[in-house]
Amino acid sequence: MKAMKILVFFLLCCLSSESVLSARYEAIFNFGDSLSDTGNFLRSGALAFPVIGKLPYGQTFFRHATGRCSDGRLIVDFIAEAFGLPHLPPYLAVAKGPHVRAGVNFAVAGATALDSSFFYAQKIGPLLWTNDSLSVQLRWFRNLKSSLCTTKHECEEYFKKSLFLVGEIGGNDYNYPSFVGGSIKQLHALVPPVVGAITRAVSMLIEEGAVDLVVPGNLPVGCSAVYLTLFRNPDRSAYDPRTGCLRAYNAFAKYHNNYLKQELQNLREQYPHARIMYADYYSASKSIYHTPKHYGFYGGTLRACCGGGGPYNFNNSARCGHTGSTACRDPSAFVNWDGIHLTESAYHHIAKGLIYGGFTSPPLLT
Ligand SMILES: *[C@@H]1O[C@H](CO)[C@@H](O)[C@H](O)[C@H]1NC(C)=O
Ligand SMILES: *[C@@H]1O[C@H](CO)[C@@H](O)[C@H](O)[C@H]1NC(C)=O
Repeated sequence: MKAMKILVFFLLCCLSSESVLSARYEAIFNFGDSLSDTGNFLRSGALAFPVIGKLPYGQTFFRHATGRCSDGRLIVDFIAEAFGLPHLPPYLAVAKGPHVRAGVNFAVAGATALDSSFFYAQKIGPLLWTNDSLSVQLRWFRNLKSSLCTTKHECEEYFKKSLFLVGEIGGNDYNYPSFVGGSIKQLHALVPPVVGAITRAVSMLIEEGAVDLVVPGNLPVGCSAVYLTLFRNPDRSAYDPRTGCLRAYNAFAKYHNNYLKQELQNLREQYPHARIMYADYYSASKSIYHTPKHYGFYGGTLRACCGGGGPYNFNNSARCGHTGSTACRDPSAFVNWDGIHLTESAYHHIAKGLIYGGFTSPPLLT
């Protein structure tokens, strides 16, 4: 009888997992780049990438362009949904608007972890889509804070029940130099300062009262259509025979991720009361590249859905949204959306892995 009661309780509690999840956080604050920007870059002018302001961007889910660099929802949208929270409004849409209790998104497409002045000092600066780097996003957060909570105690109570997503960020710090011919060796030298910028952001947020933080690593960039196109290699051994991805760039993404994981471990020792979770984007996306058809990715994993031709359907003179490009009929069958960013269905797969599949450590759900 007792066992029965326990069983009934278990069924009641755990079948209604949605309500369990929605009780967990009252707000989400997100920092990052185009992998999680829900409209800041578009509102900032989006001079370098105006096509995100029109279809086919947004065609699958929102049915209109929102400024997200995909055909629909992003990982951050699926995380918000899982916790019963609304899709995060972009900071630049709410900064002067009404009170936002359920969270805000500070991410900006093209943003770097390092300040833009770092890239200007190296003459890469003019390539940057935006100067709204991680430290600018943190400044926005501090500006908004006074409208979120007032007393120290009130802020602590509120942030204790909030989830802070710090990234993915840092990918662009490597993209910009790679795209102008920087070697992988040169990229390696950037890893300590890039990871340093990320861990400083995490520390600052903890000092502001954050307790639960998720810090994602980088995706397997060697599988992205833009890298595969720019760094095409006649030597077959440059490619992973199983996935067709560029080995050296995937190894580099792993190097960054391992460095980040190590630094996060140091932060956990420094702030034992905080829950610093590493989100393993790389491993969460691996299954897609290994057994794509199993997950419905019949269009292939490496060819972009939307583009202007070429072996990976990425053509820099006819990028997605520009004249000469077309979008595939069924984006959900593709992993890659526009050569750089992933489709909603790929982001959904990764998000499920992060929330339910053990790819966040310690786990997002306890
Ligand atoms: C970024 O800042 C530099 C100067 O620091 C400026 O020349 C450039 O126009 C800015 N870029 C954007 C996209 O605002
Ligand atoms: C890339 O786009 C340009 C401009 O539309 C076009 O002339 C060219 O043929 C395309 N290249 C490939 C490989 O499809």
